[in-house]
Amino acid sequence: MMRAMAIPAIAMDGPVLVYGGTYSNLFATLALLEQAERLGIPRERMICTGDVVAYCAEPLATADVVRRFGGHVVMGNCEESLGNEAADCGCGFEEGTACAALAVEWYAHAVDGLDAEHRAWMRGLPRRIDILIGGRRLAAIHGAVSKINRFIFASTSRDEKLREIALAGTDGVIGGHCGLPFTQILDGKLWHNPGAIGLPANDGTPRVWYSVLTPEGAGLRIEHCALDYRYRGAAGIMRGINLAGGYAAALETGLWPSCDVLPPDELRARGRPIAPSAVLW
Ligand SMILES: [Fe+2]
Repeated sequence: MMRAMAIPAIAMDGPVLVYGGTYSNLFATLALLEQAERLGIPRERMICTGDVVAYCAEPLATADVVRRFGGHVVMGNCEESLGNEAADCGCGFEEGTACAALAVEWYAHAVDGLDAEHRAWMRGLPRRIDILIGGRRLAAIHGAVSKINRFIFASTSRDEKLREIALAGTDGVIGGHCGLPFTQILDGKLWHNPGAIGLPANDGTPRVWYSVLTPEGAGLRIEHCALDYRYRGAAGIMRGINLAGGYAAALETGLWPSCDVLPPDELRARGRPIAPSAVLW
């Protein structure tokens, strides 16, 4: 991972829409793009933290709309794996777990659905994008700064997050991969994860999550926002192509089919509805 000084930073002078994990869910991705339009946020001020293609029905169409209309995109482990035609998703699931078993089905569907042009796009994505906003420099990455598929949760230790932020050499990190939204300010530094657009937040509701970062006075307002979309349609298409595997139901119930990757705190929070929130940093 390159230090901050070696990486050009994109100056953003208005609200920034941050999202991740569209996971081949075209219905949800289109709803997000419509929401960006309603908010008046242009694609130049949108950042995706990766995993554009994964669990859901429409890998090619989702990759295509994110590529054309979704703004700046950081490479996720799914892009790294699919772009390089790797044998598996590279999510970091342990062998023999339910996550690993479920991944076999959706990964095969994603491999079949993509074309050479979109694989090349995925291979060429940057692993890190720095932005300047509200007087702060933030590094957008996928999992962690040190490793694309490291899971950083809200419950991950403060020391680990501060080590990752120090490695980035920035005022904060925007991450993805774990699929759950959270914002933490640690010793004046920021860790922010907008959650995922393509799968609910395991909170027992079908809503999906994005965030908006807005310069405010000398600070930055960070809002976690819920998005409603036509989840029954997205689940129906999955069942129609025999991509049931648990994730179709998850779109409706808001509960993940497997929680193998979750630490105890996040496991306890399963099924508890999350409320939209805002933090001023
Ligand atoms: Fe990921």
